[in-house]
Amino acid sequence: YVVDKGNHRHFMEKEIYEQPEVISHALSRYMDFASNTISDNINAIDFKATSSLAISACGTAYLAGLVGKYWFERYARLPVEIDVASEFRYREMPLSPSQAALFISQSGETADTLASLRYCKDKGLKIGAVVNVRESTIARESDAIFPIMAGPEIGVASTKAFTCQLAVLAALALGAGKARGTISAEQERELVRHLAEMPRIMSRVLNLIQPQMESLSRELSKCRDVLYLGRGTSFPLAMEGALKLKEISYIHAEGYAAGELKHGPIALIDENMPVIVIAPFDRFFDKTVSNMQEVAARGGRIIFITDEAGAAASKLPTMATIVLPDVNEIIAPMIFSLPIQLLAYHTAVFMGTDVDQPRNLAKSVTVE
Ligand code: AGP
Repeated sequence: YVVDKGNHRHFMEKEIYEQPEVISHALSRYMDFASNTISDNINAIDFKATSSLAISACGTAYLAGLVGKYWFERYARLPVEIDVASEFRYREMPLSPSQAALFISQSGETADTLASLRYCKDKGLKIGAVVNVRESTIARESDAIFPIMAGPEIGVASTKAFTCQLAVLAALALGAGKARGTISAEQERELVRHLAEMPRIMSRVLNLIQPQMESLSRELSKCRDVLYLGRGTSFPLAMEGALKLKEISYIHAEGYAAGELKHGPIALIDENMPVIVIAPFDRFFDKTVSNMQEVAARGGRIIFITDEAGAAASKLPTMATIVLPDVNEIIAPMIFSLPIQLLAYHTAVFMGTDVDQPRNLAKSVTVE
């Protein structure tokens, strides 16, 4: 069918606003909301018999996998080895048929991801594909396909595919936890219930933050460099925020684990480089706030992306505070993706770049 921009200026904007709808498709494929349980289709990979999981992907799909690593390890006690596909395929890591491998790709055609898949297949691993395009080469060559149900993604900068990849990885991690007996039936029901609420919360957040994102982006568009910080699952989000901003606005940005600040990037802090701190009120919050303090003490300007509990708990002066609703940990990465995407989008719009077709980039990288 024909894909158009509807009432939106760019495909990217349309795809950002489509997220509540497509994520509900992704969730309902892997969860039963009548019983609040994970569906059996997750068992296309025998997670119980799996000794560890290897994940490989590129770009945004890799960063989704990095969030997935935290979930698989936490909820399923399943060790995860993850790498960008261009390194994974040449690392000569020891692999055995007792392991399973997951390949995450929107297009399903990314050359390095496909090569990593073939490498693992050769070593006898069970292969799972988290893909958007179900007819793709990566899907065809896998033992188990986990479609992300995002619908066609036209904008070169991935948005809805990222959050749908996260939704599917959350389902897989909880399904693996169920199979391995590392989460109880009660935990499963509770986490699935939180996931079921996500589309509604996403719609609310998109409406809530839109005006603030536009005005903040005007400020960001004047900057040469931006630093993103986060801990736990907010660390991959920090890298995703930086990737999104640099791809479409051409502003230099880096995403760092907040705890690494002292090990180098703190030398860059001055009033010219905004620091975007992603910190829901989770078990890492206090530690991230102490990193924020280090930034503030050196005259750094902070854009603080937090939730209501986090905003109430921190009294540090910021350039701006983006306050999201308090949500369960399992859905925070998807909810916190929204301001990150909108900041990048509006900054690029202010700068007048070709948002949907940024220079030098292709939607699908089919050569090495
Ligand atoms: C995301 O905004 C990028 N354009 C890029 O990093 C992309 O995620 C990467 O090339 C992987 O593509 P795939 O998901 O189609 O494999």
